[in-house]
Amino acid sequence: MDTLTATKLDYQSGFGNEFAIEALPGALPEGRNSPQRAPYGLYAELISGTAFTQPRAENLRTWVYRLQPSAKQGAFRRIDNGLLRTPPFDEGVISPQQMRWDPTPIPEDDTDLIDGLRTLGGNGDASGQAGIGIHFYVANASMSDRYFYNADGEMLFVPQQGRLRLATEMGVVEAAPNEIAVVPRGVKFSADLPDGPSRGYICENFGAALRLPDLGPIGSNGLANPRDFLTPVASFEDREGDFELIAKFGGNLWAAPIGHSPLDVVAWHGNHAPYKYDLANFMAIGTISFDHPDPSIFTVLTSPSGPAGLANVDFVIFPPRWLVGEDTFRPPWYHRNIMSEFMGLLHGQYDAKEEGFLPGGASLHNMMSAHGPDADAFEKASAADLKPAKLDDTMAFMFETRYPIRLTDWAANSPQIQAGYQDCWADLKKNFNRKK
Ligand SMILES: [Fe+2]
Repeated sequence: MDTLTATKLDYQSGFGNEFAIEALPGALPEGRNSPQRAPYGLYAELISGTAFTQPRAENLRTWVYRLQPSAKQGAFRRIDNGLLRTPPFDEGVISPQQMRWDPTPIPEDDTDLIDGLRTLGGNGDASGQAGIGIHFYVANASMSDRYFYNADGEMLFVPQQGRLRLATEMGVVEAAPNEIAVVPRGVKFSADLPDGPSRGYICENFGAALRLPDLGPIGSNGLANPRDFLTPVASFEDREGDFELIAKFGGNLWAAPIGHSPLDVVAWHGNHAPYKYDLANFMAIGTISFDHPDPSIFTVLTSPSGPAGLANVDFVIFPPRWLVGEDTFRPPWYHRNIMSEFMGLLHGQYDAKEEGFLPGGASLHNMMSAHGPDADAFEKASAADLKPAKLDDTMAFMFETRYPIRLTDWAANSPQIQAGYQDCWADLKKNFNRKK
């Protein structure tokens, strides 16, 4: 048995590149994609992440050269969805109420990544290729002899506790807290949890694949730079046995027996491939005079939805940074937004909510729902001596989406929900004085 995948961790740099990589010398056919006989007796197979005919700049596809073709598998049967939900669903609630949750506990029973999915909410329609699903994962066990792919969307993983090691068809991606990993739609993987009990957030993106935002007047550098995105090198498992292939399709989980590891790709070329990114490499841009830019200045990745600048979802971070604005209220301003804002915290404190918004927790401010600094944060920022100050030990993030988010029953009735969250603004005083 020749098993490489478990240990091979090596990456190639760049975003959206046409990568070409082989785990055995000469495994990539030269000059053609589908020769009469591929090297080493491999099967050639194409994975299309966009329609054949989408423009070249948006086209996603990868050729894989594998031990056995993906079509060789048993029959699918429906399995229990657990706490995984997919929009459109009619349970739970869609509400203008500001919401916040404490961290979701990690189960004590053996729970792998798939069993540990908990859907907080979602919007759009997975089969209509619009909207997102927002999930937590809370797990403590590696996926054993089972493999997964998601036909409904790509998956953006944001680990908060413990490393997440994803053995994929294209190679192994490992993301630690403060890093993210993205698995494209349809790409098969198995998840290991090298640190045991693990927790994180997932944005399941049903829309156009995440990409880097345009930079406009910022120029050709800044925010997330392409070279800091890492895609795995090819590595493969040559493994046979009684395994299970799980598919997420049409909002449901399906399982089929499979007699071999589907992570059997010896060589591949293309741009439909997983990647990781270290959020510490994000070049944050802010004011050097007064006020501060809209939070879109912190966009790492965006999924466009059609109208220019209107995202199906943006992945935005609030990283450590210097605050230097003169005569400026420095925390995020009070806000009502046509976009809906789901936030999580990876570590430290968020400057608009120093208490109550915990690492591993979450908040939701739905379409046009008012939010902003709580009473303590307002008082502190209004009286602060405006010397340059460093915000340190902090990493919050946002999934900002064009459609309002419906909560699941699980999220709406969670013991972790903070009843009375809106009271954090109750002590804001009326400071109005006609004498100015
Ligand atoms: Fe906001």
